Amino acid sequence: MTTVAQAQPNIALIKYWGKRDHSKNLPAVSSLSVTLQSLWTRMSVDFLESDAPDTLLVNDAHAPAMLARVSHCLDLVAGPGRRSANVVSQSNFPIGAGLASSASAFAALVVAADRESGGSRDTLELARLAGASSGSAARSLYGGFVELTAGEDQIDVQTVCESSEWPLEVIVAITEEGPKPVGSGEAMIRGEGTSPFYSSWLERQDDDLNAAREAVLDRDFGKLAAVAEHNCLKMHSVMWSSKPPIVYWNNATLSCMETIRALQSERVPVFFTIDAGPQVKAVCLPEAADVVSSALEQTSGVINTMRSSLGPGARLMETA
Ligand code: PMV
Repeated sequence: MTTVAQAQPNIALIKYWGKRDHSKNLPAVSSLSVTLQSLWTRMSVDFLESDAPDTLLVNDAHAPAMLARVSHCLDLVAGPGRRSANVVSQSNFPIGAGLASSASAFAALVVAADRESGGSRDTLELARLAGASSGSAARSLYGGFVELTAGEDQIDVQTVCESSEWPLEVIVAITEEGPKPVGSGEAMIRGEGTSPFYSSWLERQDDDLNAAREAVLDRDFGKLAAVAEHNCLKMHSVMWSSKPPIVYWNNATLSCMETIRALQSERVPVFFTIDAGPQVKAVCLPEAADVVSSALEQTSGVINTMRSSLGPGARLMETA
């Protein structure tokens, strides 16, 4: 039997950066994200009647470097005594480049592996399992605007506003297609241990989260824009002030930020956010999506853009 599940990446508006517990992969801060619609990862899982090692194909190529994380996630879902698995992953966007491909991958993986191993966990249980592999993946189990609450021992995740209730658009400007130089897990450890800004990042996170949640519930775009940009720049300040520093941006990243500033000065409802990579994500009201998209396409250094509305959480596709 083979089970296929699909999940979309999510983009954090209030970021997760830093871990409370590394062994359980528990985040140090709560976060709020939007789940996308048109970027996707499909994961197929097939548990075999054999003792052969697990195999992993990512976009048609063997991916030995990622296999250990995938196998560990399968152990969490199906138990360490599980049968070996063939896992095949397909994404319609660049992976490992700061586009939250691990979020969509692990969200889809837990859904497929749970069904394939005969489980019937609910969405929160699956989100906690996905989060144990990639903190941001927990949010991709849910659609729309998603809040992840970081507790002492576990996370809670819920949709705070459905995508249909506030249909924002996201335009992703791709400025580099290669993999990022430092993975987010390693970068977080460095920030926790060396950035003088890390403690104030932790202290202020709940204020930002409360402001963002209120803005979403009030559909207040200006308020959401202000707090999301501020939160993003604070996260990058922790990265920049880590020793040695972690700078994911390139020249085109800055050019995109200038483009968005120029649009804002013309009262176009748009804001930026940037994750552990050089890509810029512009979040806007639907009526602004064409103008934002063409302004980013014309920005120096932008390789291409992708556009998405907000979408649903991870789900099963087929079992054959
Ligand atoms: O889920 P991870 O370990 O890849 O960390 C993701 C961290 C950011 O994307 C930078 C922020 C976030 O909340 O998604």
